[in-house]
Amino acid sequence: MIRCESVTYVYQRGTPVETTALADVSLEIRSGEIVGIIGATGSGKSTLVQHFNGLLRPTRGRVYLDDVDIHAREVDRRRLRQQIGLLFQYPEHQLFEETVSADVAFGPRNLGVAGQELDRRVRGALERVGLDPDRFGPRSPFALSNGEMRRVAIAGILAMEPRMLILDEPTAGLDPLSRQEILDHIRRLHDERGLTIVLVSHSMDAVARLCRRLIVMDRGRVVADGAARSVFADPARLAALGLGLPQVTLCAQRLRERGLPVRPDVLTVEEGRAAILEAVAVRARGAS
Ligand SMILES: Nc1ncnc2c1ncn2[C@@H]1O[C@H](COP(=O)(O)OP(=O)(O)O)[C@@H](O)[C@H]1O
Ligand SMILES: [Mg+2]
Repeated sequence: MIRCESVTYVYQRGTPVETTALADVSLEIRSGEIVGIIGATGSGKSTLVQHFNGLLRPTRGRVYLDDVDIHAREVDRRRLRQQIGLLFQYPEHQLFEETVSADVAFGPRNLGVAGQELDRRVRGALERVGLDPDRFGPRSPFALSNGEMRRVAIAGILAMEPRMLILDEPTAGLDPLSRQEILDHIRRLHDERGLTIVLVSHSMDAVARLCRRLIVMDRGRVVADGAARSVFADPARLAALGLGLPQVTLCAQRLRERGLPVRPDVLTVEEGRAAILEAVAVRARGAS
C-alpha cells in the first residue's frame, strides 16, 4: 500500500541547525498489516510516519501509495489524508469543539459528509473506541479523562473512514488501564475490521502484544525490519539501540539464565505462562 524509496528528510536545511532526521529509508507497508515502529527518542519515527500521508515531503527519495507517487501534481492531498489517517502524539491537544460529537464530526464534515451519513459515521466511530455515543456525544471533550480524550481523537480519524491508521505513541502518558483499553481497541480495529495499522511506540510490551512485524529505527535509519519474535531474540542489539525487551520476554530469558528451560522468544503474557508451565513440566519429568 505504502512504499518509501530511499527517503531522506532534512529539517531546516541550509541553516546551522540542519538535522538529517531520515537517511535513505526504504520500506513497504502492505494492506492488512499491523506493523510496529520502535526506536529511541529522536530516531526519526514521527518524521517517518508524517511521510506516509504526505504531511512531510522527502528531501530526497519518493513515497508511493498504491504505486502512485503521492507528491505527483495530480494527487489530491486532501483525499490522501482522508485515506491515511494519522493520530499525532498527544492528540487531545487538538480537540477543540464544544461536544465530543462535533469533534468527531469535524473531519468528515470537512470532506463534505453531512446529514444522516455524518451521524452514522460519528456514532460508528465512537462505538469502535468503546464510547457510548448517547452518553459521550453531547459532553464536552474537556470534561473527559485523558484516556477518553485520546479515544475521542482516534474516533475523529476513524470517522473519515481511512484505509490505514497510523498511531504515533497512542498510549504515551496514560495510566495502565487506559493504555490497555486503547491497545485492545486498536487490536480489534485490525482483527475485526481488517484495518491496516502502523503503531509507533516506546512500549515494547505494546508492540509485542499487537504487532507481528517490527521496524526498528536508529538515528534516521531502519536498522531492522522483520518478525517481532526475531527482533526480540537479540536483546544485546536492542540494548545497544537504547531499547529493552517486553517484560514477559525478559522474564522468560532471566528464568532461562537461572536454569529453567523456558522458551526465550515469548511475546505475550499468555505465551509466557504456557512456556513456563511447559518448562516446569519438563523439569519435573527429568527429576522423576
Ligand atoms: N520540527 C523539527 N525541526 C527540527 N528538527 C526536528 C523537528 N522535528 C524533529 N526534529 C529532529 O529530527 C530527529 C528525529 O525526530 P523525530 O522524528 O521526532 O524522532 P522520534 O519520533 O523517533 O522521537 C531528531 O533529531 C529531532 O530533534
Ligand atoms: Mg516521535
